[in-house]
Amino acid sequence: VGAAQACSSPAAPAPVSPTGPQVLESERARRAANARIVNVDLRARPTTVDLGGPQVTTWAFDDRLPGREIRLRRGEVLRASLANELPQDTSVHWHGIAMRNDMDGVPGVTQEAVKSGAKFDYEFTLPDPGTYFFHPHVGVQLDRGLYAPLIVEDPDEPGRYDAEAVVVLDDWLDGVAGDPDTKLAELKSEGMQMGGMDHGGMPGMGDGSAGPLGSDTGDVDYPHYLINGRVPTAPNTIEAWPGQRLRLRIINAASDTAFRVALGGHRMVITHTDGFPVQPVETDSLLIGMGERYDAVVTAGDGVFPLVASAEGKQGQGLALVRTGSGAPPAPDARPAELDGRLLTAGALAAAEPVRLPARGPDRTHTLELGMDMSVPYRWTINGKTFEERRPLPVGQGERVRLRFVNRTMMFHPMHLHGHTFQVVAGRGAGPRKDTSIVLPMETLEVDFQADNPGQWMIHCHNVYHGEAGMMTTISYQ
Ligand code: C2O
Ligand code: CU
Repeated sequence: VGAAQACSSPAAPAPVSPTGPQVLESERARRAANARIVNVDLRARPTTVDLGGPQVTTWAFDDRLPGREIRLRRGEVLRASLANELPQDTSVHWHGIAMRNDMDGVPGVTQEAVKSGAKFDYEFTLPDPGTYFFHPHVGVQLDRGLYAPLIVEDPDEPGRYDAEAVVVLDDWLDGVAGDPDTKLAELKSEGMQMGGMDHGGMPGMGDGSAGPLGSDTGDVDYPHYLINGRVPTAPNTIEAWPGQRLRLRIINAASDTAFRVALGGHRMVITHTDGFPVQPVETDSLLIGMGERYDAVVTAGDGVFPLVASAEGKQGQGLALVRTGSGAPPAPDARPAELDGRLLTAGALAAAEPVRLPARGPDRTHTLELGMDMSVPYRWTINGKTFEERRPLPVGQGERVRLRFVNRTMMFHPMHLHGHTFQVVAGRGAGPRKDTSIVLPMETLEVDFQADNPGQWMIHCHNVYHGEAGMMTTISYQ
């Protein structure tokens, strides 16, 4: 029994990897004796939220969408007490954090599921600054709205910006067009229509190609695209002063949608992805897959500007406003020219010097072929198998491990590794450090990571429907 089934088979307690002495040792090594402890309460429960007009009945943390941001500094300890008031098992996964394995929040792999009505206390040190988020790791609960930003500040960071705003993207299904569990069940029983779920489209390859590619042929309609929980007709407003350097911490919390993001009238300087610094690159727009984060600095103009997240391969967009002065607000369907300008993808980035992995060949390579089984409806596979059929991939403590993702499908898969930040292997070596990276249709993506965090860790597609339909596996330290 694995994570993918944790909510549907509550009767069978899963074999959970025990908290070994190495896991405790890894936490001891991260935690300073005088580390500040930050206490947070999280209540996951059914609620009604206002999307800025539409009222939706859904599940959320503390009745808010997104849930309340958690913000700490590097090296601090988060103590989060989760109360599960949902009618299902749940958990919290701290996406992107290199943490102790037993707090990673994957039922059936790192902990027992948190039962309905039960509580669970998470406690761990946050070793790396950056932009992160958290969500349950059970079924498709993320798609109901159970997510919130987790920001880890760097007290030593040079002041490259004056103000900042967190920008959380989502595709909204629940409460309007059915619920995510029903959608998943329908997909599994009926399979995909030809061209269905074509969320991936054929994105530009980071070479400056532009324009909306792909079209909305999906059998799934997301009635709303949200930025910070608001529909475009009632957008969230980010206030700044003209001339300020504004840092946007962009998080794609959508379950099934990649976005093309641009700020009208501005160019963005990409400074970080998935929390880790990159050599800054200026761009008009960027492509952000599910589970990815990008930090972009803009020098704010004077007026009211549309910050647009255009759903890739679908119809529709999310909107927020950046307001520094007076002016008429842009229309809900405003389409700034920057969206069709230079499009940046992770492949165009390189790790900043201080976070670059030492140059070295891999000690071990695992090839993961990403596939779709056409004979069985809606079954997404890694090396021909679903999660339930797979064995963990072995890694050795201290090894440099290469993962080679080979995409045999026409969709893109944002592949996410828990507990580590890999480095994309680019032509010249040191691509960006990331924990989630899109594998483009029919392409191969290689990433390297240092095996320095013992335990059993998930690798999966962050399209939660692909993941739940099998596109998950684990690595296990021997
Ligand atoms: Cu955000 Cu395993 O996922
Ligand atoms: Cu996928």
